[in-house]
Amino acid sequence: MNIQDYIKRRNNLKEKVKEGIIFLSGNSLVPRNYPSNPFSFRQDSTFLYYTGIDLPDFYLIIDCDKSEEILFGNELTTEDTVWSGAKESIKEIANKTGIKCTKSVSELSNTIINAKSKNRKIHFLPPYPGSRQILLSKLMGLDIEKLIENTSRELIEAVISQRSVKSDKEVLQIENALNDVTGPMHIKAMQMAQPGIYEYEIVAEMNRMAKLKNIDFAYPVICSVYGEILHNDTHGNKLQKGQLLLIDAGAENQLHYASDITRTTPVGGKFDSRQKAIYEIVLNTQEQAIESVKPGVKYLDIHIEAAKNITSGLKDLGLIKGNIEEAVQAGAHALFFPHGLGHMLGLDVHDMEDLGENLVGYDKNIKRSSQFGTAYLRLARTLEPGFVITVEPGIYFIPQLISLWRTGKKFNDFINYPESEKFLDFGGIRIEDNVLVINGGHKVLGNKIPKSVTDIENISFTIQ
Ligand code: GLY
Ligand code: MN
Ligand code: MN
Repeated sequence: MNIQDYIKRRNNLKEKVKEGIIFLSGNSLVPRNYPSNPFSFRQDSTFLYYTGIDLPDFYLIIDCDKSEEILFGNELTTEDTVWSGAKESIKEIANKTGIKCTKSVSELSNTIINAKSKNRKIHFLPPYPGSRQILLSKLMGLDIEKLIENTSRELIEAVISQRSVKSDKEVLQIENALNDVTGPMHIKAMQMAQPGIYEYEIVAEMNRMAKLKNIDFAYPVICSVYGEILHNDTHGNKLQKGQLLLIDAGAENQLHYASDITRTTPVGGKFDSRQKAIYEIVLNTQEQAIESVKPGVKYLDIHIEAAKNITSGLKDLGLIKGNIEEAVQAGAHALFFPHGLGHMLGLDVHDMEDLGENLVGYDKNIKRSSQFGTAYLRLARTLEPGFVITVEPGIYFIPQLISLWRTGKKFNDFINYPESEKFLDFGGIRIEDNVLVINGGHKVLGNKIPKSVTDIENISFTIQ
């Protein structure tokens, strides 16, 4: 990204929002246990998108009517430089992103009060960190509870429309995260998935590989022999023969573009026949779903098709019975596939989720389902060229859910409970790739990461 990219993005934003004042807030450091011991800094993704400034405590005001931009930041004091070293001046930082006017943060409130006194509309986005909620509450003179209903729909929609369509440069950043770290770390993890190894040893190695490139994960790593726990972020189990290890991990690159890959590997490197049968259903479903990705197709339809493929595969194995269409329409498949097929990917792993899942993933024509399973689909809208999405079907055997549904006699016509209960110790399988929507079709991003049964078995046996 260069200065012109940021200038162009802000100009487009101004044109879309048309009038009033746009307020964009960067993030501050978040204390871990006391203020001078903070979590590592992660900039707000929208702020990064429009400025590229990757430092705490910056704010931007864009005056749509006067075409004026002001960057608010504080110069370091001498004392700051003693502890943290000298940094660029606010002017230098502003110049790099093409902003001419700078002010200190203490002037922010006057600027907003002044605009409000002239009855000008102040556009702001939903604030997710507590500190930003407090700041906005003070600046706007609104109770924190009232902030959400006062966010600017025009601004939210403008940001979503820009950030949803990735430029070639942005796609390269995602591929950079995939090829530099995420792909190699999944391959390494497959090789390490041997009996006697602890999950945390694999996570540590993946972390080392990311740190060697001076980058971090885009989200907490899922590395678990209990893959049926969808967002399991504990890593304390010792791998045992016969188990499956599900790893959902992705690095974000230097510019913070995310990657989001899942692979499932048999501990010891060889699938048993039952694991292979379920794995092939998930793989086949994922490959068919990827094939369907193209502009003009609703992602909801691809999700439903994936649900049918999973249902059909499980019916062949005797776990589901009855009519496949009817089973999926009723929502019976969600016992085994209880989440959505995917989501947008970009500067956030669930891209722009802070702006509102429904505004990002749904549109006027597609309302969110309230049915268990399909309700968790984050992306349902019609696909457009430039969208980067994940395709991540899975099959899971969740003992509590199976027990609950069985006791409640839920979907007795569709679920073969005695057969399903033979899989209570199975765990879960998910396969996830990152896909760019292009004219007429799609492109799977990044170098190939082993995915077929044969490729995974081969990579696992090329150990040490
Ligand atoms: N890594 C979280 C997800 O796949 O949605
Ligand atoms: Mn994932
Ligand atoms: Mn994902």
